[in-house]
Amino acid sequence: LPVLSVASELYPLIKTGGLADVAGALPAAMAGHGVEMVSLVPGYPAVLGALAESRALATLDLLGDPATLIAGHAHGLDLLVLDAPHLYDRPGSPYADGEGRDWPDNARRFAALALAAARIAEGVIPQFRPRLIHAHDWQAALAPAYLHYRGIAVPSLLTVHNLAFQGRFPADQRHGLELPEAAMTIHGVEYYGDLGFLKAGLRFASHITTVSPSYAEEIASEAGGMGLGGLLAGRAAAGELTGILNGIDTAIWDPAQDPLLPRPFSAHQREGRAAARRALLADAGFDPADAGPVFGVVSRLTWQKGLDLLLELLPDLLARGGRLVLLGSGEPGLEQGFRAAAEARPDRVSVRIGYDEARAHLLQAGADVLLVPSRFEPCGLTQMCALRYGAVPLVARTGGLADTVIDANPAALAAEVATGLQFAPVERPAFAAALARAFALFADRPAWDRIQANAMRADVSWTRSAAAYAALYRRLAGTPG
Ligand code: ADP
Ligand code: GLC
Repeated sequence: LPVLSVASELYPLIKTGGLADVAGALPAAMAGHGVEMVSLVPGYPAVLGALAESRALATLDLLGDPATLIAGHAHGLDLLVLDAPHLYDRPGSPYADGEGRDWPDNARRFAALALAAARIAEGVIPQFRPRLIHAHDWQAALAPAYLHYRGIAVPSLLTVHNLAFQGRFPADQRHGLELPEAAMTIHGVEYYGDLGFLKAGLRFASHITTVSPSYAEEIASEAGGMGLGGLLAGRAAAGELTGILNGIDTAIWDPAQDPLLPRPFSAHQREGRAAARRALLADAGFDPADAGPVFGVVSRLTWQKGLDLLLELLPDLLARGGRLVLLGSGEPGLEQGFRAAAEARPDRVSVRIGYDEARAHLLQAGADVLLVPSRFEPCGLTQMCALRYGAVPLVARTGGLADTVIDANPAALAAEVATGLQFAPVERPAFAAALARAFALFADRPAWDRIQANAMRADVSWTRSAAAYAALYRRLAGTPG
């Protein structure tokens, strides 16, 4: 079944968040289900630079300017790269300039990506005729709208990775995007008087998925819908909104053969984990003899992630004998807050601002607990890496965090199925209580060992979810079996 995946990020070529991991892992996961997935990505410098065996397949007039579709391979991915230097040949982040300001022509840049997808569905590349378009997030979300307005009878699936990013632009930016003027209504691409990319995709996609079942429920409501709850509730009622949990790439995240770790380990052979813990402590400049729990964070530093609460609770965590190792980057206020905490207590708090994959692996392998106190979390991948690497996740009970971690409540402990800790609501008292529970469990060695072993045995692979996507693809494409 030929499927065109459309995403503005694709691991390992270009990434700002988990979207890239998922778009990068799905093609291989789907190959075993007879799905031939080609990924359409913008021709960012990092993408064009990585292309092997490339050849230009077609040159299009795209929104008034020429653009070339280049076929190629990189890191096992089958790519169609939209080479349009006037839109994508810019350094750094895919969305913003060096000062962090969004590019002023982002509407045009991502309308072009979506329109290219529609043109491919229409048959502009005879060698590849997709039976389904799988669009990811707002950057690709106009694709279903273009399919609709151009009368192209190829079904589409839109996956929402984060409802907080909606691709909303002033209404006058619709000009020149080849959308009919009649599209500018509540039944089309209009969103509270503006042009709404995600809104348009949610309106016109044949089906919508989001990246966990709990998040699918949360967003189909006034409270969790971030302004789109009504539309989402309608589609959910029609059976057109479902949650399919992400997996992680278990080849990249495999403690039994991870070149970034000092020694291999696994759920059955956990001894090697101590070496990773020692390496992490040495790297952080911590006392190696201190046996107290080491808490870890690997995260974007934004309001979504709830780490301001961790900053508030940090004195308490340290007073109880805990230590913190944080790796992340994002909002200046949070970066400064954590930096200051590390400067005040360098013996107990280690903070690295930046993006560093090697460090993320060592942190997951060496920390005792991984903290994910998100206010909302569509799925979350770091808690799944943590499960696999034995850093017991302590998470907010929301979205995909709720769906992937089994809280160590008395019933789960008695049944020996707990894999971590959850708390709700995302406020200081509940978070503090969960931290207190973590300290108590950590002090009970046999109990902690069991939780860690369960965590490492949890299935965080794509196996089940790939089958769910395959079934959905076939249903949407009208292919039985
Ligand atoms: P989100 O997409 O909301 O940022 P996810 O948990 O779904 O959250 O995905 C985040 C991804 O980015 C994971 O693969 C995580 O390991 C990685 N990551 C986040 N921050 C860093 C960092 N500072 N260094 C290395 N990897 C990071
Ligand atoms: C988004 C979400 C995150 C999810 C990721 C991949 O970035 O914030 O929860 O895991 O997409 O789907």
